[in-house]
Amino acid sequence: MASTAYWDVNAAKSIVLIGMMGAGKSSVGRCLQRRTGLVRLDTDEIVAAEFEMPIAQIFGKHGEEKFRDAETEVLRKLAPDRPAVIVTGGGIVLRRENVDLLKQLGTVVWLIADKATLFERAARRDHRPLLQTENPRDVFSQLFRERETLYAAAADIRIETSRITHDEVAETILNKLEEFSSLRQ
Ligand code: S3P
Repeated sequence: MASTAYWDVNAAKSIVLIGMMGAGKSSVGRCLQRRTGLVRLDTDEIVAAEFEMPIAQIFGKHGEEKFRDAETEVLRKLAPDRPAVIVTGGGIVLRRENVDLLKQLGTVVWLIADKATLFERAARRDHRPLLQTENPRDVFSQLFRERETLYAAAADIRIETSRITHDEVAETILNKLEEFSSLRQ
């Protein structure tokens, strides 16, 4: 297993991934899980399991607000007994309560990329309900504008992902966490 990062797996805090659709949170979460051996908890996966249907169907059947309520409820109940890799949906920062809960859970890592890269990645797959519109590019641009300051306010660490692989992002995160935790000691 490739691992050149020295972040201490026994450190007390979880790694929380935030960022826009297309930032690579799920894939990077899997890389981090493989590299660290930590459990991976994905809020979208937990909500989908609770509703027993994919996210797009939850939006279609119950509406976005019900999804957001479920998302917050998952965070309230999420208290891993060990540090974990926590993967979130792109809209998690919309509620102040969510951000407070994420900050309690661990070190919040914002995966950044330029808008064109994010949109290109996000639009590659058709499971994202917010992009099922006539003009997904405009909707994406608006979400990007509205959310940037929210991600920035929530983040402890930012990682630029546009030109590196998911595994390199994971490696960079572990190196930065090492720096971050030594700065805080
Ligand atoms: C959303 C992003 C999705 C999912 C839901 C809403 C958003 O997760 O939570 O479709 O509001 O940006 P990803 O960021 O993993 O696509």
